[in-house]
Formats: sequence, structure tokens, C-alpha cells
Amino acid sequence: MNAINDSLVLAPESYVRDNPATGVFEVHRDVYRDPALFELEMRHVFEASWVFLAHETQIPQPLDYLASYVGRQPVLLQRDDRGQLGAFLNVCPHKGAQVCQNESGNRKFHVCPYHGWTFNSRGECVLVKDRAQGAYPSHFEQANTRLPPLARFANYRGFLFGSINPDVPPLKEHLAGISTFLDMIVDQSQHGTEVIPGRSYYTYDANWKMQLENCLDAYHLTSTHPSFMNIAASRASGGSQFRNIDIADFVDPAIPSGSYTFKHGHAAIWIETAHPEVRPLYHQYDALVKRIGKVRADLMLKTVNFTVFPNLQFSCNACIQMRVMRPLAVDRTEMRSFCLGPKGEPKDLRKLRIHQFEDFFNPTGLATPDDSRVYESCQAGFAARGGPAVGLGHSRGLANVISGPDAYANELGLAPLTSSSGRSDMQDETVFHGSYREWLRRLQAGLRTEATA
Ligand code: FES
Ligand SMILES: [Fe+2]
Repeated sequence: MNAINDSLVLAPESYVRDNPATGVFEVHRDVYRDPALFELEMRHVFEASWVFLAHETQIPQPLDYLASYVGRQPVLLQRDDRGQLGAFLNVCPHKGAQVCQNESGNRKFHVCPYHGWTFNSRGECVLVKDRAQGAYPSHFEQANTRLPPLARFANYRGFLFGSINPDVPPLKEHLAGISTFLDMIVDQSQHGTEVIPGRSYYTYDANWKMQLENCLDAYHLTSTHPSFMNIAASRASGGSQFRNIDIADFVDPAIPSGSYTFKHGHAAIWIETAHPEVRPLYHQYDALVKRIGKVRADLMLKTVNFTVFPNLQFSCNACIQMRVMRPLAVDRTEMRSFCLGPKGEPKDLRKLRIHQFEDFFNPTGLATPDDSRVYESCQAGFAARGGPAVGLGHSRGLANVISGPDAYANELGLAPLTSSSGRSDMQDETVFHGSYREWLRRLQAGLRTEATA
């Protein structure tokens, strides 16, 4: 494999070596450490197609707003005075300052902090400060003074996505089979799902793809999270009434599990749950079976983690965590973490859900610091250019993966590109492959377009 990023422009395929016929799947370490490659993936992965922006329940009222990003581009999500959602680049047409300086709130107008141009909730400029005195040339009347709307903005059952590239497939087509997993979250209540107020934003000093992989990495659980395992075991043996994810979900090899990759880089894993009764949702099981059928209700009670490529992830075990990745540099990533729950959930179950979320997922919880620490450890290890340029981290499960759906995918009505199922101690690594195939496809397409532009 080539190790020098100059060669990338000629051969991006050198960075993901993928040969299903010979059972080879290798990712070059420059993918995690090369700033030139980071620049290319921002342009061609994050800023060339759909990315997740926010959930609509984060801005429920007319005039609510929220700051978000498409790759490196600052975005303002805003409801107008009639409650209509809009998405704009948060960039002043005057000299480029961000007109909205806050994370979220409710506001009729945004006043640019630099020279005071003022924008309404539809992104229209309603005031150019001291315009009459400005001796502007006559053609200034025709200048476009509004906040630039995103080229594409769409809502999938409450999940808001945007693209600054107009040339993308419709959102539903982009989501492909992963929409079944978004449905699994939305359908937990007949009224839909909401982001529970509160959020954690934190950073780690490592590449964003460490998180991309880790969310679907069942292999790390027992070794990276020993404190959690010990505490879970102590609780289970009478140390506490409180229950979270059951330890048997991860250490009993007889428990069935599976993984799927989908078109456009999306992927999911599932693990059967040994003790579904620890989940807030369990109390609604009979009603769920009646409303959406046994197959879908059973899926909701499994441990299910999934990626909506490239920047949205869910971990659904006892509670539901929604994570949004925001790459800041090749070796620095911001994580945005939210707790989701079914609308109309009884108070005691909502309290339990929040407790489970804080216990496991919070940046100060029992799992997240372990994960961030190992990402940073890997990033430090990637500096070792004297060692092999290719890791051995994408091979588990290769002899088990099949093209197309397995039996459980058929039951769910899914059409994945690949499936892998079996005992949970296989802890498959082929589930990452789909995201890297899409990463490579986008890089190649982007470089081709740049070469002919
Ligand atoms: S940069 Fe916004 S008013 Fe000047
Ligand atoms: Fe973890």
C-alpha cells in the first residue's frame, strides 16, 4: 500500500484494500492520521451528500433555532413564525460572520454581531444598518442579502438532514435500509420519539472514524469497559436495585447476534437481550406487538447499534443514545450526545431511562470515558510510522459474512448488502466495511469531479 498522501489523488483505493474473493479487507492508517486526507473527506464525504443536522423536537416551537453543521459549514436551523422549518448557512452575506452566535434559543431576528445586519426567521435580511447613508451603488439593490438556504433540506420522521450539494438522491433513497432502524426508534410510541431536554457536547483527540467504528464494535466491550462490567456484576449480585444493560448481553456467547451493511455507508448490529425487563420500553411490549407486530416489537427490545453514515449513530440498549459526530481536525472530534425517549412515556419510566443514560452514556458515565481514552490511545499509536501501515482491525467475521440478507434480515424485510450472524462472541468486524466502501466511493467520485472541473 502507498503510504504517502500525494499518491492518494492518483489512487484513493490504495487506502482501503477490499477483496471479498480473497477475504482481504484492510484500511491504511493514513486514513486516520493524514491531514490532507481529512481535507478530502470533509469535501467529498461530509460536504458532498446528506448529513444529519438535528431532531425536530430540539426546535419544537415557532421561532426556535439551533446551530448545527454540514461538515465544516456552520448551519442555522430555524422555525419561522408559522412553525415552518428552514435551514441556512449561518454566514452573513456582508463579511461572513456567523449571524447566530448561540447554540439554540427562540428568536424573531438574528442580528449580526459585526455590522448589525438583521435577518428574520426565513433568512431574509430585513435591515442593512445605515443603508440610506451608505452611498451604495445602484446594483446593490439587486444584491442577494439573504442567508443562503441549504441546497437540500429534508425531514425523515423527525430526523432533519441537509446537504450543500444539490446533486444528491432523495433522502429516503439515501437512507436505504437504515430507515427501518430509524422507524424502530420513532415507532416506540404512537406519538413518535423526542429528544429529552439536555445534551452533552464533548471532544476527544482522535479521528472521527474511531467513533464511527466503535459504536458497532462489540469486540471491545469486555476489555475496554471492565469497570462497568464489575459494577454491573456487583449490582446483579445484590449490590443495588438499579439495572442497566445486562452483563449477560455481552458475555454469554450463546446469545445470538448479527450485523448488516447497507447502501450509502449505513450499518447496524443487533444482539439478543437476555433480560429485556430492565428496559423502560418493556412495560409497553404487549401494546407494541398489537400496534406494530411481534417482529418489530422484538427488534426494539434487542441491543441495536447503528450508523447513519457519516455523522449519526444510535446505541439502543436499556435506553436510547443519539450521537452526532463533528470532525474538527484529523485528530480531534466533537461529539454531541442526546437521550431519546418515546413521547408520552410515564414519568417513572422516563426517570429510569434518564438514569440509565447518565449511568452508561454520559461523558462522565461508566462507558464513554473508557471509549474516548482508547480512541486517543489509538491516535497516539498511529504516530508510529516505523510500524506496519495497515492494521488487523477489520478481519473478524470475514469467513462468516454473506452477500445480501440473512434469515433475520428477511424476517425484518431488510435488503442489506451484507449480513453476518451467529454467536455473539464472534464480535464481527465486517460491519465497518460498508462505511469504508462508501467513503472510498465518495472520495473517488469527488476526485474525478475535481479533475474534470
Ligand atoms: S459581517 Fe455581518 S453585518 Fe458585517
Ligand atoms: Fe464502548
